[in-house]
Amino acid sequence: MPSTFLHPLGVAHPLIQAPMSGSNTPALVAAVSGAGGLGSLGAGYLEPQALLDQAAQIRAATDRPFAINLFVLPDAFEVDEARVDAVRARLDALMEREGLDVRTQRPARWAPVFSEQLAALREARPAVASFAFDLLDRTRVRELKALGIRVVGTATTVAEARAWAEQGADAVCVQGAEAGGHRGTFLHAPEEALVGLFALLPATVAALDIPVIAAGGIMDGRGMLAAEILGADASQLGTAFLACPESAAAEAWKRDLAQAEDHRVGTIYSFSGRAARGLRNRFVEAMAPFAGELPPYPVLNALTAPLRRAAAAAGRGDLLSEWCGQAAGRVRPMPAAELVRVLMDEYVEARHALA
Ligand SMILES: Cc1cc2nc3c(=O)[nH]c(=O)nc-3n(C[C@H](O)[C@H](O)[C@H](O)COP(=O)(O)O)c2cc1C
Repeated sequence: MPSTFLHPLGVAHPLIQAPMSGSNTPALVAAVSGAGGLGSLGAGYLEPQALLDQAAQIRAATDRPFAINLFVLPDAFEVDEARVDAVRARLDALMEREGLDVRTQRPARWAPVFSEQLAALREARPAVASFAFDLLDRTRVRELKALGIRVVGTATTVAEARAWAEQGADAVCVQGAEAGGHRGTFLHAPEEALVGLFALLPATVAALDIPVIAAGGIMDGRGMLAAEILGADASQLGTAFLACPESAAAEAWKRDLAQAEDHRVGTIYSFSGRAARGLRNRFVEAMAPFAGELPPYPVLNALTAPLRRAAAAAGRGDLLSEWCGQAAGRVRPMPAAELVRVLMDEYVEARHALA
């Protein structure tokens, strides 16, 4: 079935490659869009100029539509200096113990300035702009739409999905509890908003009159069809694309994904200060006793960045933020365009089998 949201944009398949800040590349986005899906550039960690450069690289590689995604954040953050000092000491001790020759640093700023990122997104004019972590105010939603950019909000509960619809979003992406990476939750405590996709998707479809995109644990064409049967207008897959050669995930991370057991995939705060789904590894266990002392996102995320970079360079998956969904063990490493073809073949086959 053509997606009512994607098809009018010229996207052939009801398939979105999820934005994956830090792990996606222009090559991944272009490969998916070029193969008939909608590639998404997670630009949450990019400074405005880098966002513009990467959008230009995508355009140089494909003339197909693509999405850019941002984390909705305030432009400035309050910082508890005592917490920063305490966690820096913990992290530095950990790195020393693990033989990583780096130490934490206080960055010039904790995260790129959201309003500047949004201005760059407007200049880049992707077909679709998607957002996570909070609502975008109505004026900004209207301004994007006036530029011809379709707006997608991320929701982890029906109430959040309703809130995005009221802001004027063109579609909502529901992120089931299964989903890899950061939780988009903004109205509730994270542990209250771990709703499985089988519960969240049909309830959201019943509550809204805009298209609903399904995300979380979908790894193959059967999963895409199952989402469609539950009312999804399209499926958004992240982890499935993490093991592609075009993904920037470290090699150790890609290896660990293939061996991931479902019970080892959990909700983790200790890399970024915000709930995110990934592999519970050595770092997560080492930081568990200090859970109550951690500064929130984006402060902790910025402080762990040198450690994560060093761990990736050293092939230490056990110290990396190995984000992934609950179905990570089913990744199939292959070029992204090939994966799109395989997913669509499976989807068509599953439709025929049902018919
Ligand atoms: C490594 C990684 C990074 C992610 N980064 C983002 C992001 O920048 N923005 C966003 O809206 N969602 C992000 N997500 C969440 C995805 O949009 C999506 O909800 C999730 O990948 C779906 O679950 P799955 O990974 O099981 O397919 C990320 C997911 C992963 C695995």
